[in-house]
Amino acid sequence: MSQQLLAELELILGKSSVLTSENETAPYLTDWRKRYSGKALAVLLPGNTEEVAAIVKACAKVHIAIVPQGGNTGFCGGATPDNSGQQVVLSLKRMNQIRAIDVSNQTILLEAGCILQVVQEQAVSEGFLFPLSLGAEGSCMIGGNLATNAGGTNVLRYGNTRDLCLGLEVVTAQGEIWDGLKGLRKDNTGYDLRDLFIGSEGTLGIITAAVMKLYPLPISQWTTLVATEDIPSTITLLNLFQKRATSLLTGFEMMTQESLALNEKHFPQMANPLKNHPPFSILIELSDHESEEHVRQLLESILEEALEMGIINDAVIASNLSQANAFWHMREHITLAQAAEGANLKHDITIPLSALDRFIQTTDRLMQKQYPGIRIINFGHLGDGNLHYNIAPPEGVDPISFNATNEKPIHELIYAQVESCGGSISAEHGVGQLKLGELRAHKGPVAHELMKTLKRALDPQNILNPHKVLSI
Ligand code: FAD
Ligand code: MLT
Ligand code: ZN
Repeated sequence: MSQQLLAELELILGKSSVLTSENETAPYLTDWRKRYSGKALAVLLPGNTEEVAAIVKACAKVHIAIVPQGGNTGFCGGATPDNSGQQVVLSLKRMNQIRAIDVSNQTILLEAGCILQVVQEQAVSEGFLFPLSLGAEGSCMIGGNLATNAGGTNVLRYGNTRDLCLGLEVVTAQGEIWDGLKGLRKDNTGYDLRDLFIGSEGTLGIITAAVMKLYPLPISQWTTLVATEDIPSTITLLNLFQKRATSLLTGFEMMTQESLALNEKHFPQMANPLKNHPPFSILIELSDHESEEHVRQLLESILEEALEMGIINDAVIASNLSQANAFWHMREHITLAQAAEGANLKHDITIPLSALDRFIQTTDRLMQKQYPGIRIINFGHLGDGNLHYNIAPPEGVDPISFNATNEKPIHELIYAQVESCGGSISAEHGVGQLKLGELRAHKGPVAHELMKTLKRALDPQNILNPHKVLSI
């Protein structure tokens, strides 16, 4: 049966777009963190939406499951097949055309396999900003961003991927093509199918194209690094910036002393320019459409006010683009420093800002009591209440054996605190296979059952990314 399907797929795609050899398929079968590995009957490389639809029809006929894949940078194992060798990976990488830019409508029509950085660059070349920005932008793809509803560093001002999307083209589990690419800012024609597919991690449909919003390109951006003592003063600082800079505030990222120390250990060239390794280093960005002087004066006056209020101890304003980039690289390299240090436990959580200090104080205390010497590499998009509360074992302890014994109780401890503070166990990375059990426990029975009802209705054969997000 498998051979017959492979022959049919070769007819649809051509032989060179059906990969089956170990060498060719290997890069698609392990996730970025090297946490999950699987096997596949084949890796398929369709070149257009009709081919995606034909693949789904062929697989549905013989009950073969499909795992959609973009840049394979996801953190939750959502794009990795299981170990049966009976699933196919459907990579969107060949579908990388920018179909159109509509200048008047301020939108861009893209295929799912467009690399995020290419989209950003194309937007700039047309005088626009495409504001989605994250550390993996050099390899993640717009379809993957939509499927995970990715966040990143500009959410505070522009929202997450869902907020940037106006329309989708999707291949359904039956192999039908839904053309929802109208690019309208208002459309109340019943249920919002677009929002259903966004964030569904390949379990409800395969996203093949999207209409995304563009924004005017700012004239000037100013970046500063600021030292704070604790979370309450950091939140007061955020609120001050929100009040004085309003929509000019485009980034507010937090890095702890521990996360920057790890950075310096693995990337010594990335020393923190702030003096004395402060407990918290805050990276703030303002973007302006008026003038360089306007935004610079505004930034200086807010920093002066913050100093007078005693909520910051030190500040460095980037004097040029390359210094600003160096500040951002420092922030983005924490993930890479953690990967270089060895396996770690990620907790991508959101907490209401009013409960953030209580969450960190209580969770840090419980973690240190239960696991003396544990390293808490805590950083994130503080402006959105999104913490990356990542855990590494005590210095010198092998992470693999530490995680084998302690992963589950550590997740439970942290997620219990998230729950008691009114937070979410996934802010931006999604669920995939990593948080299947936790989703069941934390989503609540009614919401969880509704999700299953939707999945069964849209994909009754359970052939789209089964056992991701939901285990049915
Ligand atoms: P993949 O990893 O290939 O897939 C992710 C999920 O989407 C899988 O479930 C897959 O089946 C599904 N999928 C992919 N394409 C499609 C499609 N066309 N149709 C349907 N389903 C599909 N994430 C953030 O949100 N914010 C960050 O700041 C951030 N920083 C990161 C930094 C680094 C260094 C790295 C490695 C990752 C980071 N991530 C971040 C995680 C990751 O980059 C995002 O989740 C990204 O959106 C995944 O895109 P991708 O194309 O790599 O998707
Ligand atoms: C980031 O914001 O850099 C990533 O989403 C965080 C992570 O590595 O956990
Ligand atoms: Zn993040």
